[in-house]
Amino acid sequence: MDKVRIAVLGCGRIGQMHAKNINLHEKTQLSCVYDINSEFANKVATDFNVPAVNNDQEIFSNPDIDAILISSATNTHIEFIEKSVAAKKPVLCEKPIDLDIKLVNECADRLKGNTVPIQLGFNRRFDPGHQSAKQSLIDGEIGDLHQCIITSRDPGLPSWEYLQGSGGQFRDMTIHDFDLARFMLGEEPIKVFAISNALINPKIKTELNDSDTLMIIMETKSGKQCHINNSRSASYGYDQRVELFGSEGMTISENRKPHEVRKFNADYVDKQAPLLNFFIERYQEAYMHEITAFAEVVINKTNPSVDFEDGRKALVLAETAYKSIQSGKMESIDN
Ligand SMILES: NC(=O)c1ccc[n+]([C@@H]2O[C@H](COP(=O)([O-])OP(=O)(O)OC[C@H]3O[C@@H](n4cnc5c(N)ncnc54)[C@H](O)[C@@H]3O)[C@@H](O)[C@H]2O)c1
Repeated sequence: MDKVRIAVLGCGRIGQMHAKNINLHEKTQLSCVYDINSEFANKVATDFNVPAVNNDQEIFSNPDIDAILISSATNTHIEFIEKSVAAKKPVLCEKPIDLDIKLVNECADRLKGNTVPIQLGFNRRFDPGHQSAKQSLIDGEIGDLHQCIITSRDPGLPSWEYLQGSGGQFRDMTIHDFDLARFMLGEEPIKVFAISNALINPKIKTELNDSDTLMIIMETKSGKQCHINNSRSASYGYDQRVELFGSEGMTISENRKPHEVRKFNADYVDKQAPLLNFFIERYQEAYMHEITAFAEVVINKTNPSVDFEDGRKALVLAETAYKSIQSGKMESIDN
């Protein structure tokens, strides 16, 4: 296989970026695109000179398509994963699998025995900084891991419309951090305690029963500790840091800036450029490496390093965090 021929389902915000990356990548080729809104599909099709098909079945039944990337609305993911598996086409599906853990568990049951690769779109695992932090742990540079601290703050509140359909901050936003925590800890959290509030816009709590600011602590069976903090609005930009603290040292995966210029004068010292704004810029390399990993899965017929079960387990952690919010207590994981 020269290049993996990939069809993109869903041409919204993240689908457009994936289409661009697939088109640029040396190991992949954009085959065609589909979106229920033909205007979005036609735009991407025109940009990359590929066909926009009229329905998803044209993709699943096409023998010239090797693999599928699902970047449509969350409530379509399960249907498209199952159609990809039925068509024996490896699939890279955006997070989350679904917002409803019951539907995800039912899907997992139906997928038992499936051998078609399903990669989950937890792009942060592929970030060079986060990967290097994990590698320093594997290489023994910081000894035994004791604590993992994840800070993830968005640069500003999304639209009210987005918040209404997001499924809640833990399932929509923290889901990435739950996955990153599992990745860094190298073992499953067994206890979760969470607090949350709407400190940026109180209506998020009173009208949507949701939060914009939260903190979580988790513990693994061997006693490793993890702390996640999220805000939907950091005035200084997209704040993405991971700190690993161990018996022999500490590793920090830092924020990214567009360049490293530092300015000094009588009014300030060490003035630096603002942080790269938001996920498409900050995680640009991670999204590209995610495509590399997927292409290698398809070409080498291997299992993805991050798969359906990782998506399900991240959602289980989100559900446990909601349980903790309700009870006000530390909750045990119910897998
Ligand atoms: N990994 C990440 O960093 C990341 C970032 C953003 C979004 N996401 C996830 O990606 C998915 C898409 O998010 P987005 O921000 O691009 O949303 P979006 O609303 O911009 O795009 C979703 C697209 O899906 C299309 N769509 C809806 N139903 C469809 C159907 N049945 N068939 C085909 N297309 C359909 C919509 O018309 C729209 O164009 C969500 O699941 C979201 O959680 C992941």
